[in-house]
This record gives sequence, C-alpha cells and structure tokens, in this order.
Amino acid sequence: MATEISAPLTSIANIGQHEGATVTLRGWLYNLRSSGKLLFPTFRDGTGTIQGIVPKAAVPEEVFNTLKELQLESSVVVTGKVRADSRAPSGYELDVEDVKVQQAVSADEPFPITLKEHGPDFLMERRHLWMRTPRQSAILRVRATIMRAAQEFFDTRDFTRTDPPILTPAACEGTSELFEMKYFDEGNAYLTQSGQLYIEATALALGKVYSFGPTFRAEKSKTRRHLTEFWMIEPEVAYADLDDLMKLAEEFLSHIVMRVLEKHRIDLKTITGGDEKAAKLEKIQAPFPKISYDEAHAMLEKAFAEGAIEKPHEYGDDFGAPDETYISNQFDRPVMVHRYPAVVKAFYMQPDPADPTKALCVDVLAPEGYGEIIGGSQRIDSYDLLKERILSHDLPLEAFEWYLDLRKYGSVPHSGFGMGIERCVAWVCGLEHVRETIPFARTLNRIYP
Ligand code: 4AD
Ligand code: MG
Repeated sequence: MATEISAPLTSIANIGQHEGATVTLRGWLYNLRSSGKLLFPTFRDGTGTIQGIVPKAAVPEEVFNTLKELQLESSVVVTGKVRADSRAPSGYELDVEDVKVQQAVSADEPFPITLKEHGPDFLMERRHLWMRTPRQSAILRVRATIMRAAQEFFDTRDFTRTDPPILTPAACEGTSELFEMKYFDEGNAYLTQSGQLYIEATALALGKVYSFGPTFRAEKSKTRRHLTEFWMIEPEVAYADLDDLMKLAEEFLSHIVMRVLEKHRIDLKTITGGDEKAAKLEKIQAPFPKISYDEAHAMLEKAFAEGAIEKPHEYGDDFGAPDETYISNQFDRPVMVHRYPAVVKAFYMQPDPADPTKALCVDVLAPEGYGEIIGGSQRIDSYDLLKERILSHDLPLEAFEWYLDLRKYGSVPHSGFGMGIERCVAWVCGLEHVRETIPFARTLNRIYP
C-alpha cells in the first residue's frame, strides 16, 4: 500500500455505516475554505464528496498547516471521525484528525479547473481532469448503472448476449455514415454502425439475443445528440412482432429508470441541482403512450395552426428535432411513434400489411425534448421482398448473401431495437449535450484527449 493507514478504510458512499467512528478515506482535496482558525476542506474519493472540519486547536499543528497550504486536487489520505449532519449533501461530515499527502499539486501550476464557470471547449480540452468534478463523476456513475441495468434486464429474461463484429464489410443503415479503412487484400472495411444484421443471425440461432458495444457514425452531424462513437445495446427476438417489441422497449426503459432511482438520488441532485428530475423519473413506468406516425403528423399540423411550432411538418418526411420536442412534450413519459413511411426508414423494415407504404417500426422519443433514444422495427422475413429492397436501395447484393440466407433457412418474423446509451444518460440526467455522458466523447470536431 502506498500510504500507511491507522483507522479502517471506507468510502464516502459507505460512510454512513461508520457514524461516530474514526475512519480513513483515500482520495483528493476537492475544495478548501478557511476562516482563520477553522479549515473546511472538501474531499472526494470517486464515490462522493464530504466536507471536513479542521479547528486549529483540535489537530496537531502540522496537520493544520499542511492542509492550509494544500493545493486543490492534491491526493490525500485522511483520517477523521464521522459525524451526521443533516445539512450536508451526503448527510455526514468528517472531523479531521490526520492527513497524509500522497502527492502535493504545485502552487505554481494549480489544477486548471476551478469552481468558476468555464466554457465547454475549455472543459472538453481538459476532459481527463474535468471528469473529477462532482457533477461529471456523478454522471459517469449513473451511466455505469444504466449500462448494468440494461444488461441485467436482458440477462434476467433469458436473452443470450452475442457480440457482433466491429469491423464489417458493408453498411447497415446507409453508406454515407461509415468510417472506412483498408482491410489487407480484402478491400475496404467499415466500422460498424449497428450490430443488427449480425444479431439477426444469432437470434435465429439462439432465439432471444442482444448485443452491447461501441458503434460508429461518420455522419457530419454537429448537434447536441450526435457522437461519432457511441455505445448501443440491441435486442433481437425471433418470432416477435412490432407489438411485442414495443412492450419490450417500455419495460426495458422502466427497468433502467427504476435502477437509477434506487441508487442515484444524491447523484441526480448533484447533476441537476434539485429533486425535480427524480420526481419526473418516478413517472416513467410502462405502459407508455403509443401513437402512429399519422397521429403524430396530425398533432404537428394542429400545433402549427396554433402557432406552437414554427415550421409545418411535411407529411411523408421524418420528424425534425423541434417536431420531436413538441410531440414528446405532450406526454410525461416516453412516447412510442410507430409506422413511419417506409421511404424514410431502413431497407430491412417489414411493411405494414394494412398499409404497405408504412414500415412496422418504432421510434421512442424521450420526454422533455431529449429526442429519439430507441429505434427499432420488425424485420422483413420474406426472401424475395428483402432481395428486392437490397437492390432498390443500391446495396451490393454479394455483401448481403449471408443476410438473405437467414430468409432462406427457417425464416421467421423477428424484431429488434437499438438504444444509444448516451442519449439515455442525457435524458435521465437532464443534460444539455451528449458529450458529458461518456468519459471521452468523440464528435465531429474533437478527438482529443
Ligand atoms: O435509429 P438507429 O440508427 O437504429 C439502428 O441502428 C438500428 N439498426 C437498431 C436496431 O434496430 N437494432 O440507432 C439506434 C439508437 C438511436 O435511437 C439513438 O439512441 C442512438 O442509437 N444513436 C446515436 N447516439 C449518439 N450519437 C449518434 N450519432 C447516434 N445515432 C444513433
Ligand atoms: Mg433512428
């Protein structure tokens, strides 16, 4: 161990179990206030923050002087007595008894991120340090819980996780969005934009499957919802139709939100500055409202007539961000918009037998204008129709021979969706931009650090 310790080691998250006892914390000095003979250092250890109290008269002189001069973000091992304090965010304070400095930050080169406001570029350039601040680390903790809850949901429902390749020979959602690279003598390879086509194969092998991994989009979108590298979780289910899929999606989201509320009330408060977000999340319980594309369009027509949106929605077009915001604001839980015009959606989507110009697909729009967090559909299960769609979309037939095989050997109706983790985290945490939802965001104009 790097530093000798004299009292039981604990974490700030678990400090309540040690009320009245002397404990040791290993972490960093997050903040320091002083008023003459009293110091108020705030420590962080990755699980939370806690304020310490250091009266000059109560500690050895050396401890007082060391702390007094210590620069923010110096690494420290602190010993002190845990005291309940209802005003403290964590519910506890620490009466500091001893401090050992692991590494002292130089006063000549202090930690660049201070408590004052910094612009997003300044912070993103220092993302490796910015993530230490309480709000950013709280977001990363919530992200981890969302990822765990998402997997747990499928793992406890007899899904088998199957990992699709990241290097692929062809497009899934459209070629303009692909990162391309040379692949030995085999020509070009592309970074995957979705594992879907591959997990359609594993679904026909294993019944209920999901994949979970990084996906890539080279589209030149510079919005607060787009990353070039993001994490997607995708279930795919044999014999499931669109209704089954929508039920799966609403139960999935409800489960994730429940887990976040169980574990992260303090973090949600740190992130949003209040309790309103948690109160809104309490309402996220299945079933969710379900409306067709046509109904959503009618809603937008009315909104335009009433002056509630600026631009009319053109029937047949996809929804723009302001349209999605308007639609989602009509509901207190995610809204499922189904049966879009087939022409604005992907080639593999099953047409609606009741109206073949529509696709059996669903987009789940998060509340409060957070936009699409889930996209999914029933897949074409007819060999002939799928082949026709591949050709009419100008996709290279050779690259899809294996995918067509799935319709040649025991084809069944099957459905799946994809959820971008970062969009989900942005909504659950109430964040303005997805760049804060992932440790190191990759966007159109940023690949450092
Ligand atoms: O709607 P998308 O493009 O659907 C698919 O990729 C399907 N093949 C999934 C499937 O059916 N298995 O993407 C799915 C989700 C979106 O709803 C969104 O949450 C997220 O992935 N997403 C992005 N997140 C961050 N940055 C981007 N550029 C994203 N593009 C999509
Ligand atoms: Mg989509």
